[in-house]
Amino acid sequence: MWRYRRTLAVGLVLMVINRVSSFVLPGTSKWLIDEVIGNDQMELLTPLALMAVGATIVQAGTSYLLSNVIGIAAQKAIMEMRQRIHDHVIHLPARFFERHKSGELISRVMSDPEGVRNLIGTGIVMLVGGVLTAILALIILFILYWQLTLIICVILATFGGFMAYAFRALRPIFRKRQKIRSEITGALGETLGGIWLVKAYGAEGREQGKFNDGVIQLFRLISKTIRGTSATVTLGTVIVGIIGALMIVLGGRAIAENALTLGDFVMYLFVVGVMVAPIIQMAMVGTQISEAFAGLDRIRDLMTEIREDEDEDHRNTLKRVRGEVTLEDVHFRYDETVPVIQGVSLHAAKGTTTALIGPSGSGKSTLISMVMGFNQPQQGRVLIDGQDLSTLKLSDYRRYLGVVMQENFLFDGTIAENISYAKPAASRHEIEYASRIANAHEFIQSFPDSYDTVVGERGIKLSGGQRQRISIARAILANSKILVLDEATSNLDTESEALIQEGFKNLREGRTTFVIAHRLSTIRSADQILVLEAGRIVERGNHTTLYRMGGRYRELYDQQHSYEKDLYVNPGEDSLQ
Ligand SMILES: Nc1ncnc2c1ncn2[C@@H]1O[C@H](COP(=O)(O)OP(=O)(O)O)[C@@H](O)[C@H]1O
Ligand SMILES: [Mg+2]
Repeated sequence: MWRYRRTLAVGLVLMVINRVSSFVLPGTSKWLIDEVIGNDQMELLTPLALMAVGATIVQAGTSYLLSNVIGIAAQKAIMEMRQRIHDHVIHLPARFFERHKSGELISRVMSDPEGVRNLIGTGIVMLVGGVLTAILALIILFILYWQLTLIICVILATFGGFMAYAFRALRPIFRKRQKIRSEITGALGETLGGIWLVKAYGAEGREQGKFNDGVIQLFRLISKTIRGTSATVTLGTVIVGIIGALMIVLGGRAIAENALTLGDFVMYLFVVGVMVAPIIQMAMVGTQISEAFAGLDRIRDLMTEIREDEDEDHRNTLKRVRGEVTLEDVHFRYDETVPVIQGVSLHAAKGTTTALIGPSGSGKSTLISMVMGFNQPQQGRVLIDGQDLSTLKLSDYRRYLGVVMQENFLFDGTIAENISYAKPAASRHEIEYASRIANAHEFIQSFPDSYDTVVGERGIKLSGGQRQRISIARAILANSKILVLDEATSNLDTESEALIQEGFKNLREGRTTFVIAHRLSTIRSADQILVLEAGRIVERGNHTTLYRMGGRYRELYDQQHSYEKDLYVNPGEDSLQ
């Protein structure tokens, strides 16, 4: 807020001019009645009228400037706030996103700052303007007739107290309203993202039901806030009525007793009129301000989440990475109870390939996530070129990472854009070169738009295997020193896999590679094979030694080998033939 002090100052100056000029009209009326009409000085009529017109023009002009200056400043504040939240959110650690739906975060980046418009914008200026008007008016009213004014003051103070109470009560409701809204957006994003699943299982009705419940809840909360707001406004109107009645009774009596001139009384009426409008306005503005604070509360919650690069300044810079990876007695658990990695040590020399195998759920992906710096071990260390990863700048390190996962994510854009994501400046020649290695060039060429084919959201217009080959090309182009292939070939049929294995051999040259694969034939050439079970390495060695050893690896290998020899098809395909 402090950053907008200059705009606010300009706004307040304009507001003061605006408010002061609003007192000219009631002032002239006193003159009109007591001097011009009372003393028959008709020559004063024209200057008086001119004064009134002048004041009105000043008032109109400042109003116009106010809404422009303040309105635009408010929008600028929203823009800047969105930028800051986005910057913060995108730098939060991977684990944060397991707890929050993307739709929810979208709503928090886009909607939460909106309320701030009221705070920076017309809201605060109007509030200050209202208070200012009320004070000015009260001073005049005291001078004119203090007895009545004192009573009015007591009534207004009561009203003020009520408003303060009402807004404190409304704030959590506003907060909840924003929360529910972002939850609905989050759920909606998920439903639409999984629309195939929804349709395949005929769950449209159920999804509709969930959505309906959500918006009904939202509606109820909004109704509550509307009821609260209108109650304060209504009370304000009643108060105005009471003040009016008091004025008639007490003012009329004062005139009769000659304590007040007629001009004074008319002016009194006018000034009360000038004061009343902003007071009712304040009731509404107060609502907007509590809404803004509710948004700010939520923004603060988000902004206090610790960024991944929070202490980046204190971390060591990495000029270049050679690609030596060491894990020293690493332990990890996602939550308090279940240990997922239990004391894993490994050493991957520069340029070697390490294969991780083991049943699903044994912790292979988790182990790799620590190498990539997505998760930090609770015990033990991850060393890159002999330096503790937790002391290195993550952004430096990740420039040397290449990743292909089972669930491959493509952005809605062209194939070329997706391949060059890690290296936006890559030439078409480089992109093609990488695609050839990934065995993707051929199918890309077969599309009418070739490399300019748009892939759709998440790459929906491509097959799983095609997406995978594009991700492999992307990792190749990234020219990383450390390459992670987490079931990278599991969406491919055996034939393309064999072709890609060729490409991988070239790719692995000079890169420290971690491969997780279910098909053991694909990892036979690895320098070391680690068999993981329940978060522990139970066997390690290369294919020959492990096979000879006749343990877990041999068992798995023989099982698969005979299976593949028998069928030479993908699991599941046999039943279709
Ligand atoms: N984000 C997560 N939060 C909580 N538990 C998780 C998370 N990811 C994985 N797990 C759990 O950790 C264990 C290891 O998972 P994972 O490393 O993905 O196994 P793998 O890759 O070997 O199949 C599993 O029991 C899984 O349920
Ligand atoms: Mg996995």
